[in-house]
Amino acid sequence: MKITIAIDGHSSTGKSTVAKQLADHLGYIYVDSGAMYRGVTLYALKHDLISEHHFDKKQLIDSLPKIRLEFIKENEKDRAEIHLNGINVEKEIRTMNVSEFVSPIATLPEVRRKLVMLQHEIGKEKGVVMDGRDIGTVVFPDAELKIFMTAKPETRASRRFNELSRRGDEITYKEVFDNVKERDHIDSTRKDSPLKKAEDAIEVDNSEMNLEDQFHIILQLAKDRIAGRV
Ligand code: DC
Repeated sequence: MKITIAIDGHSSTGKSTVAKQLADHLGYIYVDSGAMYRGVTLYALKHDLISEHHFDKKQLIDSLPKIRLEFIKENEKDRAEIHLNGINVEKEIRTMNVSEFVSPIATLPEVRRKLVMLQHEIGKEKGVVMDGRDIGTVVFPDAELKIFMTAKPETRASRRFNELSRRGDEITYKEVFDNVKERDHIDSTRKDSPLKKAEDAIEVDNSEMNLEDQFHIILQLAKDRIAGRV
């Protein structure tokens, strides 16, 4: 039996790392729902709909039908990467510039409605591991396994800082830390689908956990659910 696995949590908790490991191990599809919100944000930045000084919500909402997001594999063995209107933007959506504006954009109910529809479509056959903020609460409230990941903000910021520095982004730890805190705040306090732990989610605090231990703990939970043991 294939199940649906929802992985939610704060930003930079390593949701996507564990979600990819699980999907590879189980032969499931991995879906990065944050990439979709980032894709809409990139569109808004490219069309000058948002900046530090303005946010043209109406224009963005009117443009939604023109925003086409798809996950496409270049080769059979590759992981699917996000395309915005036919162009691979997998790398471009990870920059700090996109991170700075994605949370305000993700507060818009019209944006959420469009992306949740897409998420339902991709996940309708089950056999999917999806990570995000509202997957276990809103997108797939009936998911058989829900994980809520968290870690200390300092730990999350230094992980993200190392990742961005390795990629060559010129950025300070403080900028990353402030962004992590700011996104936590906006994501958790927005009106539509705020980040919160689903009642039946299992919380995993990985501040002191290595990747391997974390993977094995969560994989065991998934195997138990697949076998119908719990
Ligand atoms: O997972 P991420 O950091 O790439 O997500 C980027 C932003 O997108 C996050 O700060 C909030 C938003 N998001 C959301 O509101 N709902 C989701 N299911 C996934 C992401």
